[in-house]
Amino acid sequence: EKFVDLEDLESIEEDSRVTFEARVGNARVQSAKLGFLVLKAGFDSIQVVIAEGGGQSISRQMIKWCGALHTESIVRVTGLIKAPKEEVKSTTISHHELHLESIYIVAEAPEQLPIQVKDCNQPPPGEEEGEAEKEGMPNVGLKARLDNKVLSLRAPASKAIRRLESEVSRLFFEYMIQHKFTDIQPSYLAGAATEGGAEVFEVKYFEERAFLTQSPQFFKQMAIAGGMKRVFSKGPVFRAENSNTKRHLTEFTGLDFEMTIRHHYHEVLSFGESLMIYIIRGLQTQEYPKKLTNIIKEAGYPEAGTFQLPPGDQAIRITFAEAKALLSEAGVEAGEPDSDIDTAQEKALGKIMLEKYKTDFYTVDQYPRSLRPFYTHPSPHDPALTNSYDFFMRGQEIMSGAQRIHIHGELLESMRMKGVSPEDEGYRHYTEAFKWGCSPHGGGGLGMNRIVQYFLGLNNIREAALFPRDPGRLAP
Ligand code: 4AD
Repeated sequence: EKFVDLEDLESIEEDSRVTFEARVGNARVQSAKLGFLVLKAGFDSIQVVIAEGGGQSISRQMIKWCGALHTESIVRVTGLIKAPKEEVKSTTISHHELHLESIYIVAEAPEQLPIQVKDCNQPPPGEEEGEAEKEGMPNVGLKARLDNKVLSLRAPASKAIRRLESEVSRLFFEYMIQHKFTDIQPSYLAGAATEGGAEVFEVKYFEERAFLTQSPQFFKQMAIAGGMKRVFSKGPVFRAENSNTKRHLTEFTGLDFEMTIRHHYHEVLSFGESLMIYIIRGLQTQEYPKKLTNIIKEAGYPEAGTFQLPPGDQAIRITFAEAKALLSEAGVEAGEPDSDIDTAQEKALGKIMLEKYKTDFYTVDQYPRSLRPFYTHPSPHDPALTNSYDFFMRGQEIMSGAQRIHIHGELLESMRMKGVSPEDEGYRHYTEAFKWGCSPHGGGGLGMNRIVQYFLGLNNIREAALFPRDPGRLAP
């Protein structure tokens, strides 16, 4: 027998005898002599014809037995590959049929399942988790999908989102390694709540307290101070923020980098922009991520496959002041010159940028000092501004970064100016890093879940995480 994967069937010749393992998607009996199964594995599904006399062993009793197979059970089948009677137009349905000769159950699923996998392929209805399960909605709501992740993950669209995330990760690693960055492992546990604010989770650490890190930034910078010129990491980022929104998780995946600067802070920005364009262009042009995006699009996600990069791949960069001016010009109330751009204004800016520059990805540079943390390097041209930036996709922030202060005395001064006490024991190792001499450097942190969310135009970030964590969810 020839054991194959369902996804490889397209390359197999007609009349070949194959064996594969797959799940039952649907079982039906047409007559005493004829039944059908839909079997699925990975993204793919295939129709199985069960005709009396097939392979000598298919009896009427067998057809009846097949018709009663429970959905989601795993079966092992052997049969002959045939071309179907009608042409199949789908990325995920096999262009072949299997004419069954033998079948047995590998693992049986119960007759009653908490949710139907076939109803998890389309985008979930409803705006927020919880509000989702409305009467009469054919597709399963987000909450039920998350509660039953093992089942909902089996839907092709859900699996495709996971694999697209893996493609983002692959492209990120590829680009970083190509550009001589070293993959470092920061610690995700810290003895002090350093970067600032109360947004950290506390954990018991033997007799002491420890905190889950809110960003690997200080570790990246200490690696630079330790003489590493270019470092990156991929790992969990923990935020104890009680934000119940469509774009906040309490644990997300951070893609971080930090690099020394030779001449100008814009080296950091240019690098980050090229990295993002490499990732997005890769998703748009490489065969596998293109196929994944198609599967998601076919499932009914309206914005999958519509993401726009600027023509010519030159990133569009505007300053914070220019962003405010664009908003005002468009009649959007933009507030004081140094007031932050709120979520509604960000979205409005996204629309303006798309119209004006034909791009869903852009950079905002030179944020006011009042809006950025103490470690951010002031602009050499204007002390009220900083060498700091954010990246946006479809009008939503996906990254923030900056040049960091690398001179010990200037760092202490900036801390005091921002009301942060450098004497605090928790900052000792960080500030000391700059006492022993550190090169000018900068970097940033990308939210991987948001990249996936906005590339595909997913309504809720919870769809862009395998096991999302939010203020109301710690399982599964
Ligand atoms: O803007 P943030 O907080 O920046 C930092 O962590 C800095 N220390 C910069 C650095 O070098 N790491 O977070 C960076 C990115 C945001 O732009 C956003 O994409 C994502 O992380 N992010 C979140 N994603 C999901 N849920 C949340 N609660 C997020 N908070 C930030």
